[in-house]
Amino acid sequence: MDNTINTQRRKFLQYSGISAAAVATYPSLLQAKSMGTSSKPSANFHADVEIELTEESVKIPIFDGPQTKVWKVSGKVLKGPASTITSLPGSYLAPTLNLQKGQKVRIYLKNKLPAESILHWHGLHVPSKMDGNPMYAINHGETFVYEFEILNRAGTYWYHAHTHSVTAKQVYSGLAGLIIVSDKEEQALGLPKGEYDVPIVIQDRKFDSNNQLVYVSHMMQKMMGFLGDKIMINGKPDFVLPVEKRSYRLRLLNGSNSRIYKLAWDDGTPVTVIGTDGGLIEKPETMPYVMLAPAERRELWIDFSNKPIGTELTLRSIPFEGASSHGGMMGGMGGGMGGGMMGRGMMGGRRGGMGGMSSGDSLPLGGDYAVLKVKVVKKAKSNDSLPARLTPIKPLRLADAANSNDPRTITLSMRHMSALLNGRSYKMNDIRPDEVIPVNTLQLMAFDNGFHRSMGMMAMPHPMHLHGEQFQIIKREINPRHQAAHATVSEGLVDSGWKDTTLVMPGEKVTFLKPFNDFKGMFMYHCHNLEHEDMGMMRDFLIK
Ligand code: C2O
Ligand code: CU
Ligand code: CU
Repeated sequence: MDNTINTQRRKFLQYSGISAAAVATYPSLLQAKSMGTSSKPSANFHADVEIELTEESVKIPIFDGPQTKVWKVSGKVLKGPASTITSLPGSYLAPTLNLQKGQKVRIYLKNKLPAESILHWHGLHVPSKMDGNPMYAINHGETFVYEFEILNRAGTYWYHAHTHSVTAKQVYSGLAGLIIVSDKEEQALGLPKGEYDVPIVIQDRKFDSNNQLVYVSHMMQKMMGFLGDKIMINGKPDFVLPVEKRSYRLRLLNGSNSRIYKLAWDDGTPVTVIGTDGGLIEKPETMPYVMLAPAERRELWIDFSNKPIGTELTLRSIPFEGASSHGGMMGGMGGGMGGGMMGRGMMGGRRGGMGGMSSGDSLPLGGDYAVLKVKVVKKAKSNDSLPARLTPIKPLRLADAANSNDPRTITLSMRHMSALLNGRSYKMNDIRPDEVIPVNTLQLMAFDNGFHRSMGMMAMPHPMHLHGEQFQIIKREINPRHQAAHATVSEGLVDSGWKDTTLVMPGEKVTFLKPFNDFKGMFMYHCHNLEHEDMGMMRDFLIK
C-alpha cells in the first residue's frame, strides 16, 4: 500500500498541468503540493479541541427490512468537551461538530472507504491546505490531519466530501454533516437553546426495493442534477418534529445534491428568517416563503405558543418557475402567477409538475410537496421572544474594493454536455491569470447566468459557492425575458448578512463583495449543484 508521500507525489505527476513556467510564476502551487502530506500533527499548533473522524462503509437501519449500505463518518472527541460531537442516531449523516469561535481545532480524518476521499469545511475560513481541496484526497488506510482556528462568527456551517469528480456520489452516500459554531455574542441573545434549537438537514434520496440508495448518473440526470423521490430530514424518512407550545430556532441546511426548495408553512404563517449561511442577520425578516438552494442555510424562527396541542404543521416546497430548461417552455402556464399571487389561495390544489422537470419523478423540481412535518405535542414551561435586533453586521463598502470599477465576472454556461465557468472546465492545478487574486484585498465580483447573453434552452439555476471568507451580496439584476419566472422566487431570496452560496437564477446576475484576507493558496469556486460540480463547473482561485 502506498504511503501518503508516494500518493501525493503520484497525484502531483498525474494531475499537474502546471508547467515549469507556471511554477515560476506561482511558486505556491508547488509549495502547496509538496506540503500536501500534512498527515502529522504539527508541534506548534496547540489544539483546544481534537477530534477523530472515520469514514467507513457500513450498513444502517433506515427502513424496516434490509439495512442500507451508506458511507458513514463516525466521530470521537480526543481532547476538549464531550459536547464537541453530537451524533444523530440511526442517521447516515456525519456527526454534528459543535465548535466555539476562537477554538483551535485538530481533526484526524481516517479513510476506511474503498475509495479516495477528502472532507471540506463548507463556509469556514481556514488555510488553503486545510480546506479539503480535491488535490489532498487520501486513500484507504491514510490519515489527513487538519489544523485550524475557528475564525467564523456563530452560525450553521457544514462539512462534506470534496473528492475529485465523485463529490456528488460521496455526499449522496452519506459523507456530510453539520458544523454549529457559537460565540459569546450569540449566547447572550437569549435565542431558543438546547432542544429548542433544532438542526434540520434537508436531502432528497432514492431507494430501491431492497432499501439501497440509488444514484442515477445518466447524462440527462447529470445535466439537470440528481433528484431523489424521497425527502429525508436529518437522514430519516417520514420525519416528524414534535414541538412544545413555544418558540423554536430551526437551522435549515439544504444538503441535497441539486434540489432547490421554495419553503412555506402550509397554514399561511409567514416565514421568519433570523440567519443565513454566515450566521444571524441584523434583524428578523418575514416573507411569504423562503428559497433554499443546495448548500445554503437559513435559520428560521417559529412560535408555536398559540397553536393548540395536536396541531400539525408542514413546511412545504411550493411551485416556482425557472427550475430547469423545461421551466421556460412551461412558463406560459404559470405566466399569470406573478409573485404576489403565489399566496395561500393558490396552494389548495396540487400543481405538481408544473414548471418543473418531470422525467417521471414523483417529486418534480419546482413542484409542490411536503418537506418538514411538525406536531405540537405539549405545553411549554417557558418561552423566548424574538429579539427585534439580532446582531450588527458591518457592511462591506464598494469603495474599499481593489477593483471597484472592474468587477471579476464569472460567466456560467452549459454547452455540449459540460458545465463551465468563464468557458472553462475544472482541472487540478490549472490557475489562469484572471484567477490570481492578491491576498488581503476586497474584490468586487459577479456571477452572470445569462443576464447579458441569453442561454435559451440551457438556462438553469446554479447555486454558486466560493470557498474562503464569506461575502455580501450587493445587487441582483435580471434579464427581462426571465422576469416572470424570477418573480416566482424573488420574495424568498435572502441576501442580507454573510453568504457563502447564492442561488443564481436563469437570466440573473448577482454582484457581491468578497474579502480574500489572511490566507494564501488555492481556494475553489464552483456550482453546488453537485452533479454540475463533478461535470467540471468548478475552478480554483490562487490567492497570493
Ligand atoms: Cu460545500 Cu466546495 O463546497
Ligand atoms: Cu465550501
Ligand atoms: Cu450548476
